[in-house]
Amino acid sequence: MSVFLIDGGIPLKGTVRISGAKNAILPALAACLLTDGKTVLKDVPNLEDVHTMCNLLASLGARVNFNVEKREITIETTSVIEDTAPYELVNTMRASFLVMGPLLARKGRARVPLPGGCAIGSRPVDLHLKGFSALGATITTGHGYVEARVNGRLTGARIYLDFPSVGATENILMAAVLAKGQTVIENAASEPEIVDLATMLVSMGANVTGAGTDTIRVIGTDKLHPTEHMVIPDRIEAGTYMLAAAMTGGEVNIENTMADHLKPVIAKLREAGVEITEEFNRINVRAVRRPKAVDVKTHPYPGFPTDMQAQMTAFLSQAEGTSMVVETIFENRFMHINELKRMGARIKIDGRTAIIEGGVQLMGAQVRATDLRAGAALVLAGLCAKDRTEISEIHHVDRGYEAMEQKLRALGARIVRV
Ligand code: UD1
Repeated sequence: MSVFLIDGGIPLKGTVRISGAKNAILPALAACLLTDGKTVLKDVPNLEDVHTMCNLLASLGARVNFNVEKREITIETTSVIEDTAPYELVNTMRASFLVMGPLLARKGRARVPLPGGCAIGSRPVDLHLKGFSALGATITTGHGYVEARVNGRLTGARIYLDFPSVGATENILMAAVLAKGQTVIENAASEPEIVDLATMLVSMGANVTGAGTDTIRVIGTDKLHPTEHMVIPDRIEAGTYMLAAAMTGGEVNIENTMADHLKPVIAKLREAGVEITEEFNRINVRAVRRPKAVDVKTHPYPGFPTDMQAQMTAFLSQAEGTSMVVETIFENRFMHINELKRMGARIKIDGRTAIIEGGVQLMGAQVRATDLRAGAALVLAGLCAKDRTEISEIHHVDRGYEAMEQKLRALGARIVRV
């Protein structure tokens, strides 16, 4: 089992290139199932979750070639024969459930294990299933699997999501592009990754409008063709490096990023007193003074992203004053806080609210990454802690951050994987 060893206290300086977005490439890979030719995906990050999704597609019969050096995946889906996703793969990554919509649309039947509970909450899939059912599928569950079936093609429908779930919006969108007639998804998620998926589907011949708003309209088509698609940069990875620069009192250029996707993070950092310059495709972050406390509440896009909450909490432990962080998306996403407290952070939790008394000197300690973003928060804490921090279970970090220790070392950090 690898661990990160971090000797903190170095202000980060230099330039970091952001990789393609994990949360964009995963649905893009699933969308390849909608066609039966060779699709090429570009700027693909080399992440554990991407390998898991590739293995899942291969298990369904697709031929997958991931050229890590070229950052390119070629997927040949002519031979997709299976309609059942294996438990081992879905169990390790909830986003595997995204194959259900495309499989159902393409084969008329999909059997996918129900994703189990995970560290950040129960994360049900009821909205995905309600959507498939509205499109005419019959849903049954048993033996830990959920099965969706339709005789012939799915039929377009008006679907209102009780919550703008990212995964449900993507899954229903992918099913709807091959349905008969018009589908309208109301209260849809509007994250940039949804827009990226819609862009890819349109380049495959789908008729999709409104992605990026709360109402997405789809006119179904008989057949889609393969495409070439470059995924958007990872806004959460970019936000994490922005906080790393700000927390360590450094100055970092974040390259290959879209400032428009990071508005809430930029706004909160500016409010805290961090200097930020936005240029085309790059953001410069400069810590000019000790940051001030700010309050943060997570919301669906364009609100403050839940995927930045843990890192922001670590950042606020270094800000002058008392901050409040409210998590509204997931019910159990404060697992990083006990670990941060072991490093000396002063944080109290009351339900979904964390009260952070900032301005403390963190001390290196042995801590454990409990999930992906919790792991990132501990890395940030380690970068400004006194003495050595040892972070275990960093496989969580590898799910979503490409070569994190190498990128940080290039910015001057003392971090190794052993
Ligand atoms: C996606 C992201 C994840 C991010 C999350 C919220 C990917 C691969 N993952 O996850 O990084 O943290 O969006 O921005 O893109 N819910 C239901 N019923 C459902 C579906 C969701 O109640 O059928 C609830 C969930 O329990 C959660 C909330 O809706 O409380 C948001 O979940 P959702 O937007 O679906 O997140 P994911 O798509 O799983």
